[in-house]
Amino acid sequence: MKIDLIHSLTPLHTTQDFKGDTVAHLYFQNDKKEAALHAQSLTEIQDLAKSGTFNGAPKSSFFIRGSYIEKVNLIVAGLGNKKTFSAEKARQTGAMVYRKLEAEKAKSFGVDVDALLKVATKAQVTDILKGFFEGLYLASYTFDKYKATAGKGFKLESTSLISEDKKNHAWLNQIAEETLITVDCVFTTRDYSNEPSNFGTPEYYANDISKLAKRFGMKCKVLGEAEAKKEKMDLYLSVSKGSDREAKVVILEYTPKKAAKGAKNVAIVGKGVTFDSGGISIKPSSGMENMKHDMTGAATMIGATLLAARLHSKNKMVTILVFTENMPSGSSTQPGNVIKSRSGKTVEVINTDAEGRLVLADALDLAHDYNPDVIIDSATLTGACSIALGRLASALFSNDKKLTQAMFKSSEATEEALWELPLWDEYFDDLKTPYADMRNSANDSYGGTIRGAVFMKQFIKPGMKWAHVDLANRAYDQGYLPYNPGKGSSGVYVRTFAHFVMNY
Ligand code: BES
Ligand code: ZN
Ligand code: ZN
Repeated sequence: MKIDLIHSLTPLHTTQDFKGDTVAHLYFQNDKKEAALHAQSLTEIQDLAKSGTFNGAPKSSFFIRGSYIEKVNLIVAGLGNKKTFSAEKARQTGAMVYRKLEAEKAKSFGVDVDALLKVATKAQVTDILKGFFEGLYLASYTFDKYKATAGKGFKLESTSLISEDKKNHAWLNQIAEETLITVDCVFTTRDYSNEPSNFGTPEYYANDISKLAKRFGMKCKVLGEAEAKKEKMDLYLSVSKGSDREAKVVILEYTPKKAAKGAKNVAIVGKGVTFDSGGISIKPSSGMENMKHDMTGAATMIGATLLAARLHSKNKMVTILVFTENMPSGSSTQPGNVIKSRSGKTVEVINTDAEGRLVLADALDLAHDYNPDVIIDSATLTGACSIALGRLASALFSNDKKLTQAMFKSSEATEEALWELPLWDEYFDDLKTPYADMRNSANDSYGGTIRGAVFMKQFIKPGMKWAHVDLANRAYDQGYLPYNPGKGSSGVYVRTFAHFVMNY
């Protein structure tokens, strides 16, 4: 299998004669066919089933030493009820199994596909295997490059999809390839988001993304501050004024190899604030270290762009990532300053900590120049997002009903939940000021997430379809899902945006 991976992921391959140390059998919950299989299976599994200790519930798994065949350990793991099965259950189960493998220091692991094919259709098995291995690999992520123990942690040497039937191998190879590419792209997002801002500067991301673009056949252009100035992106540049590090706009273009009839052009925009101190409206110090993650919108969009490109999207993409730092200094933008945006509209900066919308306003305006059919953006835009939605779903805004539906479809397909909030023009009343066409913040904290989105809407031209996702509440520290690290970037919505691009 030829597959170009950025991270050193354990290969997932198809095999007939597995020589590893641990094999998993995946079971549906309380399934009649399964029960019949239990009855014929090993006494250990019969005992687990009889005692009710294991009934195939999602996330449950048992490790039984030397029970698959001699010297090969068996893991039985649950997929939940067959009727209500979803890939997310397999994903979470995969993550739990990874923890077992880690605890047991397994070296090579496989899933018995033939056993699974006895109780589920090929289509179901495809979903199960993709979900399971996504979860397993996603759970294996670590960001330890700055530790003395870097790279010394547990690592599986090989992972296999085991089938005796050679006819299954092409199908299984396809599953393996798509799964590995998906995880690889999510890992790029996590790596970027986790990078501390002394290393993860606008220049660092611009250089690294340029290399990735080359490797995966995309055009890439980087604008420095002088070029951004020529583009009249003063609103964006107003954020970087206090920083000693140069701001960088990265523009990627992907064109499918075979130009399909009716292919769409999708513009993708991401907030890349490499560190958000708040600027002159400085943030409290407690938790400020998390503001290295304030470029997660850009990180998510590069992950999604790479994923869609590597899965050969039929649609075109132009991806605009706006990187800058928001810092206080003698040259910083001050509250009350009025700035002219690229679109010509003026903004009174009430709060220099509401910088994401300034950066994105100019990026959204620039995106129109590429004549896209649709513009989508993602950003860690507002702290209020956690207040509105907690941690289970991020906020979706759109000015087009069909686009909203398409976003929901992608979010359902990947089981990364989104919830819609209104973009009503009446909310713009809160952003009126006598001194400019609008202000970037109101003086109270009501409806902060909606206000951020409504501000950005002012930079969408009539007739342009646009969707905005505020993922501030889910960008990092999402360990309640077993395939996410407890601390640090989650990589959530990479799969959703890629699915959207591929299916719009
Ligand atoms: N980067 C923050 C939003 C954020 C907060 C992301 C917490 C992740 C976790 C953004 O730039 C910001 O500071 N927004 C302000 C807006 C306000 C001043 C109108 C906020 O949410 O407080
Ligand atoms: Zn801010
Ligand atoms: Zn910010």
